[in-house]
Amino acid sequence: MRIPVTDLKAETEPLRDELMAAVARVLDSGQFILGPEVDAFEAELAAAVGAAHAVGVSSGTDALLASLMALGVGPGDEVVTTPFTFFATAGAIARLGATPVFADIEPDTFNLDPDAAAAAITPRTRAVIAVNLFGRPADLPDAGGVPVVEDAAQSLGTGAPRGACATYSFFPAKVLGAFGDAGAVATGDADLADRVRLLRAHGARPKYVHAVVGGNFRIDAVQAALLRVKLPHLRDAIARRRQIAARYRAELPADVRPQADHPNHVYNYFVVRAPRRDDLRAALREAGIATAIYYPIPLHLQSCFADLGYRQGALPHAERAAGEVVALPCYPQLDEDRQARVIDAVRRFYGA
Ligand SMILES: Cc1ncc(COP(=O)(O)O)c(C=O)c1O
Repeated sequence: MRIPVTDLKAETEPLRDELMAAVARVLDSGQFILGPEVDAFEAELAAAVGAAHAVGVSSGTDALLASLMALGVGPGDEVVTTPFTFFATAGAIARLGATPVFADIEPDTFNLDPDAAAAAITPRTRAVIAVNLFGRPADLPDAGGVPVVEDAAQSLGTGAPRGACATYSFFPAKVLGAFGDAGAVATGDADLADRVRLLRAHGARPKYVHAVVGGNFRIDAVQAALLRVKLPHLRDAIARRRQIAARYRAELPADVRPQADHPNHVYNYFVVRAPRRDDLRAALREAGIATAIYYPIPLHLQSCFADLGYRQGALPHAERAAGEVVALPCYPQLDEDRQARVIDAVRRFYGA
């Protein structure tokens, strides 16, 4: 049997009846946009993450976009962030006409180096986005009063938002996955939450009266209802991910070097640096084990950002990581036998 990197069917199966009942509830209600399911989900999510406010939005990408808009980011502004992340982090900055300023990562955590980020701040810096990559909390920079957005797309469950706000993705493969696209912004700042709420519905308040330009960033009622079924299982799912990560750490050969651990790591992905990475991937594929590379090209070297003027070698830690990392299968339903198969296959490859 092939071992996938993540197994959404296995995750969904035990909850099938409850999920179908949630869909039926929404169908019967006739309320498909915002409404009681979204209100309830937001309250439950806020309680789960330990934030005063949570606002459901259409995706993790739109959570970033709406947060930056709410913080007033626009043309001429700079936003400091990491080059080693999913594209959405920097895409949200560029879409607002602002300039992404990339600072290098820490080689052991793969997260934005807080000192490098602080050094990249200029009078034009309007925000910093730190990403809790793979589910590991990033150390936030001392940004001297500049708001820090925590891109927590991969790290729901690590704790309360630490910066101005945290943005979450419920993309199906995330720690809490929806059945389509969804996201949220959580914050302790009532004004910021209110601005995100306003922006997610075209800035309309009351309806058809627009003092600001927003967008359609609303979460679907049906996704909110489905996420309410899964949210109570989040803690157990994270505990399973941590167990798997602990076993990998103990039993994988020393040739591979896992991302630095953290007590609040939620292991959305278990990522190692691997010598001869591409050969290892081929050997694992041969053994029926899927792997993934998050992320093969650092963002400062993407051609869409060529006009920013970064050259190969500008951010060496991020560039090196992109060439060395590989994610191994890690999901709550990965049983002990399959964990052993992954470990054995890696050991065999390195002759350990
Ligand atoms: C770090 C990071 N930021 C942002 C996003 C964007 O989230 P979404 O796919 O829900 O738009 C993702 C996930 O895909 C992500 O991994």
